[in-house]
Amino acid sequence: MKPVNIGLLGLGTVGGGTAAVLRDNAEEISRRLGREVRISAVCDLSEEKARQTCPSAAFVKDPFELVAREDVDVVVELFGGTGIAKEAVLKAIENGKHIVTANKKLLAEYGNEIFPLAEEKNVMVQFEAAVAGGIPIIKALREGLAANRIKSIAGIINGTSNFILSEMREKGSAFADVLKEAQALGYAEADPTFDIEGNDAGHKITIMSALAFGTPMNFSACYLEGISKLDSRDIKYAEELGYRIKLLGITRKAEKGIELRVHPTLIPESRLLANVNGVMNAVRVNADMVGETLYYGAGAGALPTASAVVADIIDIARLIEADTGHRVPHLAFQPAQVQAQTILPMDEITSSYYLRVQAKDEPGTLGQIAALLAQENVSIEALIQKGVINQTTAEIVILTHSTVEKRIKSAIAGIEALVCVDKPVTMIRMESLHD
Ligand code: HSE
Repeated sequence: MKPVNIGLLGLGTVGGGTAAVLRDNAEEISRRLGREVRISAVCDLSEEKARQTCPSAAFVKDPFELVAREDVDVVVELFGGTGIAKEAVLKAIENGKHIVTANKKLLAEYGNEIFPLAEEKNVMVQFEAAVAGGIPIIKALREGLAANRIKSIAGIINGTSNFILSEMREKGSAFADVLKEAQALGYAEADPTFDIEGNDAGHKITIMSALAFGTPMNFSACYLEGISKLDSRDIKYAEELGYRIKLLGITRKAEKGIELRVHPTLIPESRLLANVNGVMNAVRVNADMVGETLYYGAGAGALPTASAVVADIIDIARLIEADTGHRVPHLAFQPAQVQAQTILPMDEITSSYYLRVQAKDEPGTLGQIAALLAQENVSIEALIQKGVINQTTAEIVILTHSTVEKRIKSAIAGIEALVCVDKPVTMIRMESLHD
């Protein structure tokens, strides 16, 4: 069989890794595939790097020239972002090229434009590397779990945030100090906003939610709350109560719609996800027939992410000649079955809550707080007074049972209005991970 020809856009960390995997595992890959995978053209800002990394590929300065080349069957987009990357991907699809991309932002924000165009042009767009790096979670959601109705997904899908939270817990350090350390170690970008404020995890959970429930991409409806405002005191108190705080991407099929959210979350320390530390990623999927499954691995890095990119290239190479009806649908469901569903506003989601309240250490304070929670029908699971901050003020930590978020917010507004309470009340969502 003739080789599959790759046009590589971008030789950054993942692009360099992809070239390395294709070179170092060439024999193993062609043993599996029955044909060779060849990088025929490469586009990068540095010609020198391109010539060094892919000596037998043609160097092309202009991405639009690369995506039009006759000797390119599959365009591997590793530029990232939604500028040139988006234009080049759309143009490549117009030109009938198959696409492999690691670009979560592009798919979460423009997938609703990209996938229909790909279907019209009969090309495949593969994106395993876009979610949780080297973990084959897209494969699992689209194929391995295809017999199931998926109920929920919860994942640690941003390694930078997980590293910071792990360090804060182990060393008791403040967020800002650990962020500096993460930057010095090269785990966090110079501008870490996308990682620490939940955008990156939001893109990934948006993609997984669409695949799980057969909906279009709904990134604009995804609730994003990062870790930059977390106080290490809450990590410590959570631990004393038997919980860990993780930045989770969560999507769940609820009665009235779909929950789609990213935020710091208390989870019981006995759950496997609670023990995923450092830069590692893990995704838990709960589905009706199989029950709970868990996927763990490296969510970033040159070779793990390239492992996913190359697996996608292999998948495309296997199906390139197949009738389009035999391909796996982009969003796991037949395109005509991809249906918009309500994404619940945060007021309508259901969760349990951790509250930390600073209040006057005097008779009646606890009673007033408990009464306001009872008024909103919020049931208390645990309540502890965490010692006295100064001679007159105490810290109270409350864990609630599950409730609708608007009720807890209303109770918090009432608690903050009490004369005996210092504003603001700290609220962190809590998940048992049983459903
Ligand atoms: N920056 C991401 C992370 C990896 O920290 O997990 C790429 O999405």
